[in-house]
Amino acid sequence: MSAPSMTLFHSPASPFVRKVLVVLHETGQTDRVALHAVNLTPVNPVAELNQGNPAGKIPALRLADGSVLHDSRVICEYLDLQHVGNPLIPREGWPRWHRLTLASLADAIMDAAVLTRYETFLRPKDKQWDAWIEAQQDKIRRGLSNLEQEHFAELASVFDIAAIGVACALGYLDLRFPDFGWREQQPQLAGWYAQVSQRESMQATDPSAT
Ligand code: BEZ
Repeated sequence: MSAPSMTLFHSPASPFVRKVLVVLHETGQTDRVALHAVNLTPVNPVAELNQGNPAGKIPALRLADGSVLHDSRVICEYLDLQHVGNPLIPREGWPRWHRLTLASLADAIMDAAVLTRYETFLRPKDKQWDAWIEAQQDKIRRGLSNLEQEHFAELASVFDIAAIGVACALGYLDLRFPDFGWREQQPQLAGWYAQVSQRESMQATDPSAT
């Protein structure tokens, strides 16, 4: 086995990082990437991240030549183009745009959940804005309801970039908001998530196990 040629700057709790890690597992590329953990929050920037990544985002992937890819969408697309098996992102036509749009909805759910986490965990209590938190949570509820009612069958048909995104979003809700209660409203998603959580890629990247 050769030494990893790439470095992934990551924080294990980030659902966006988990998406990249699941893609690495699903495409058999874990050996190519060394993991470098950073303790990043909006009020705790990490200077070493900023090289080639001025916004200091994670996940960020440093390639062998020193160039840096960010963020998770770009990194997932890059990794998907590096392997020879079935693509996780359809290469062309309507399936590409449709699956990327579902993946974008999953990202939006993650965004709203992470913003809620920052607001409720990082911001001092007396500065927290309840209406803003409620609006983020409404976004999560609308997104999950749309997936359950409009897209469930197609989502469950293949474990690709869209399904990986939704699984990571649900995993993050369970990690940070165990009382959110999404399973009662989305029973199909709940059954599907119980199944896909057993995949090796999901087990190996479960942040509650680290
Ligand atoms: C978290 O701890 O919830 C978290 C950490 C990094 C990025 C996003 C979320």
